[in-house]
Amino acid sequence: MGRRQKERGRRGAAAEEGGSGEGASGGIREKLERWLPVGLVTGLLLLAAALWHVHEETARKDGFSVLLTGDTAGCFLPLGSPGTRLGGLPRRAGLAAKLRESGPLLALDAGGAVSGNLPYDRIEMEHIFRAEALLGIAAHNLGAPEVALEAGTLRTLDHDIGIPFVSANAQATEMPPFSQRRILLRIAGCDVGITGITTAPAGGPVRGVEVRDARSALRELLPGLRHECEVLVVLAYVDLPQLLALAAEFPQVDLFLGGPTGHPYPPALHGRTVVAAATDQGRRAVVLRVKPPAEPGGPVRWTGALRDLVEGLPEPEPVLQLVDGYRKVLAAKDMEPGETPFMPRLRAIPGLFVAGSDRCIPCHSEAAAAWLASRHSEAGGALARDGLVNDPQCLRCHSTCYGYPGGFARPSASSTLRAVGCESCHGPSASHAEQPTRHTPWDARTTCISCHDADNSPRFELESYQARIEHRRR
Ligand code: HEC
Ligand code: HEC
Ligand code: HEC
Ligand code: HEC
Repeated sequence: MGRRQKERGRRGAAAEEGGSGEGASGGIREKLERWLPVGLVTGLLLLAAALWHVHEETARKDGFSVLLTGDTAGCFLPLGSPGTRLGGLPRRAGLAAKLRESGPLLALDAGGAVSGNLPYDRIEMEHIFRAEALLGIAAHNLGAPEVALEAGTLRTLDHDIGIPFVSANAQATEMPPFSQRRILLRIAGCDVGITGITTAPAGGPVRGVEVRDARSALRELLPGLRHECEVLVVLAYVDLPQLLALAAEFPQVDLFLGGPTGHPYPPALHGRTVVAAATDQGRRAVVLRVKPPAEPGGPVRWTGALRDLVEGLPEPEPVLQLVDGYRKVLAAKDMEPGETPFMPRLRAIPGLFVAGSDRCIPCHSEAAAAWLASRHSEAGGALARDGLVNDPQCLRCHSTCYGYPGGFARPSASSTLRAVGCESCHGPSASHAEQPTRHTPWDARTTCISCHDADNSPRFELESYQARIEHRRR
């Protein structure tokens, strides 16, 4: 304040000096000098207000985009091998950036972003949420998998990473909270209200989190929230029948967005409510263009579709740096299969051990020659191209008998098993290698599809593929 007074004093003195020598013209100048700034400022303010009004009006006319994911089930990186890959946080962030180029964006997740609570899941989870923060997520619904993380982890994610968790029916049982019941924000000159619901985790009660009945929570919350906003969004971690039933029961909701619906559910109108779900481990996202109602209380105006998160979308640098950090953490952790969700649950027959292809080669030279000429024998090397030689998510297919006794274990200890070896198809055969009259345990022709799945080998067809690796004779 002192400085402003001093300046005013100085300007006054200057005007007096000018006035003393220049007579009447000095008077006009003095008036001009005194009033011009005031007029200019007032004019500018009026202009700014008018422009702001026009801006708000055009913004309202253009509306905003919504980017919805949900049930991404712990997928940080794109799923599948190169060329066939879909999804992943780098592309999701890229799509968000692209959408922002053409106007404001509301990025939402309906919940189910984590897959479990094993050490591998937790590393992936942290990177998923850090990427969501970079992407600028506006609300992340607590789905059953998030609730299962327990209050302590949710608080860390909320406080340290700044994830705006929302839930009408899942709440902390003690202070401080880790989620909001509803989020209100203004976007494109339009007031948007967001809340969420979830089913309870299958594993039963969770430490520090109470999950109430979703319907009664919505009945309590929605009437008030409806009055506070023009566009009302409910994120719902529920299956498709429930999603449709809820949309019918709460017709005052503008956007009802799921959730683990099994299959992606492209945006469709139910009554006056838009229902959509991306699901599918983040391979796709729902993109909507939303404009506020033409008259108060009317339906929102919208267009929208499912978008595949394919190769070619931009991948923002900060998210790529996260991916880099993720690879380094995985390499440093050197995890055992038991610490990952990729531990095989089927076909682990007690007493069977993996011998390694080196043991088979001396007795099966022809089969070995065919195998050595195939890419199966170099499948571990293929991972180097992506810098993922130590990611169990890739190694479960690009190695020999991942997680089986004697099979691929810790990346640091399994260098000879970095290939799709003989036993990847014939099963753990140490016993056969010792005593050839004991048969190999697996029917090789049934194993292919465990690795040649739709994500990684979309053109797979048994006869033609088998012909390419033929080695019937010994
Ligand atoms: C479910 C099993 C599976 C998983 C998981 C998997 N792959 Fe593959 N990958 C395959 C199969 C099968 C092929 C061969 C596909 C074909 O030729 O039809 C392949 C092929 C490849 C290729 C060679 C592609 C080419 O055209 O030369 C690379 C590189 C690769 N995968 C990298 C990865 C990376 C990196 C990961 C982890 C992010 C990964 N894969 C995860 C099964 C898998
Ligand atoms: C990618 C899967 C795969 C790999 C890897 C593989 N095989 Fe086979 N192997 C098969 C299939 C499929 C057959 C055809 C037999 C059948 O229909 O079960 C077969 C057949 C054989 C046979 C002849 C069996 C018979 O009854 O005629 C031998 C021996 C054999 N493999 C040994 C090996 C050896 C040794 C290696 C490693 C050097 C190896 N295989 C690697 C899938 C594989
Ligand atoms: C000591 C030599 C020897 C070693 C080591 C050996 N095999 Fe064999 N394998 C044989 C003989 C001999 C037969 C034929 C046995 C028969 O017909 O009863 C055979 C048969 C097979 C067959 C077809 C019949 C069956 O049992 O399914 C497969 C597949 C096979 N071997 C895979 C392997 C694999 C994989 C390894 C490495 C883990 C391996 N063999 C190691 C000698 C060996
Ligand atoms: C443990 C996982 C796994 C199993 C089981 C598996 N594959 Fe593969 N297969 C791969 C991977 C990984 C690649 C790609 C390797 C690369 O490009 O480095 C591949 C590549 C191939 C290729 C291309 C090879 C080339 O040299 O061009 C054929 C063909 C193939 N697999 C056929 C089969 C058949 C047939 C079976 C079943 C009998 C089978 N695979 C079982 C993982 C597997």
